[in-house]
Amino acid sequence: MKILVTGGAGFIGSAVIREAINNSEHVVINVDKLTYAGNLESLSTIDESDRYFFEQADICDRSSVKEILVRYQPHIIMHLAAESHVDKSIDGPDEFIQSNIVGTFSLLEEARRYWSSMHETQRDYFRFHHVSTDEVYGDLGDSNQRFTEKSNYAPSSPYSASKAASDHLVRAWSRTYGLPTLITNCSNNYGPYQFPEKLIPVVILNALAGKPIPVYGRGDQVRDWLFVEDHAKALLRIAVEANIGGTYNIGGNSESSNLELVQLVCEILDDLVDSHPIGVTKFEELIVFVQDRPGHDVRYAIDPSKIKADLNWSPEESLESGIRKTVVWYTANGDWAQRVVQGAHLNHESRAGGKK
Ligand code: NAD
Ligand code: TYD
Repeated sequence: MKILVTGGAGFIGSAVIREAINNSEHVVINVDKLTYAGNLESLSTIDESDRYFFEQADICDRSSVKEILVRYQPHIIMHLAAESHVDKSIDGPDEFIQSNIVGTFSLLEEARRYWSSMHETQRDYFRFHHVSTDEVYGDLGDSNQRFTEKSNYAPSSPYSASKAASDHLVRAWSRTYGLPTLITNCSNNYGPYQFPEKLIPVVILNALAGKPIPVYGRGDQVRDWLFVEDHAKALLRIAVEANIGGTYNIGGNSESSNLELVQLVCEILDDLVDSHPIGVTKFEELIVFVQDRPGHDVRYAIDPSKIKADLNWSPEESLESGIRKTVVWYTANGDWAQRVVQGAHLNHESRAGGKK
């Protein structure tokens, strides 16, 4: 298959591309605007492959998207490009509305035009796979329920509202125009190459630098964590094998309160790192409780029965084994993290406009 991945220079998109290039015969076209969160260095292990192509483009730019679709003739579009950080959406929602809603609309329209023009035999294979989040379902509060594919949409933040809107657009394009779509809603991801604005890389990098580890409120919010490589495998399986029109919730069966999770990361750091910062004997001494996030959802949890039953997918990593791999990766890749924090990865001149 020829798979066009939007947002392939981001955290999850780059994991999907590494998985596709390393463990399949698929050809991958990465379409990414390269915002602050896009980092081509995350693809350095596969970017020499003759099955990998990169195009720098904004999904809101319809003429570029049209030209790329016509040129590469993909069988599948996996749509991951988005603004993805809740705190950033609270500070400034504009880009979230633009990329997540207008961008998805633009991509859907160009995908529809491209799909309509395909030869009938090829049209049967085409799929538009929209990658979304469990945050569209809103807050489970202190109930013991879990999100299913039938849960109501009730987003709380500008980020989750923009993703919910994009899911609705995809459903409407499927029902009204017959565009062959798939939607997946996944829980919180963690793992290598995650931008250090999200909880787990913040904890690891602050701990290693001897800086305070900020826990919002009392740290009692619960998330259902999934190792990014497990998510990438699930996404590729769904994109290629799932029945058109399907919706899948993807989760890690790994619920943890934020405080417990931060303590777990600190314990694994204590175990793996030889020396501690001056004045620190255990990394958890660096934890500080800071002002809570406005509108902070208390709990998310996924019921993953459908993806298990239909596609026999379940995560390979436990929370403990995944966090251990993540800590090992960040301690071995201090350069990657350093360059990202300094914004050095944003200097793309030498690569822009090229084949790779
Ligand atoms: P990320 O922020 O790490 O990466 C997003 C990528 O999209 C970046 O490479 C960025 O340059 C690109 N991008 C942004 N706007 C663009 C535009 N207008 N045109 C082209 N490219 C653009 O995000 P992520 O964590 O990898 O998330 C990827 C997708 O998965 C998002 O749609 C997100 O909503 C969804 N998701 C994320 C999580 C999570 O825990 N991170 C969980 C579930 C779902
Ligand atoms: P985050 O990684 O931003 O993902 P999301 O908001 O999409 O769930 O945050 C995960 C949880 O960790 C969330 O409940 C907010 C909390 N958090 C902290 O306590 N401290 C931090 O420094 C960050 C970034 C998040």
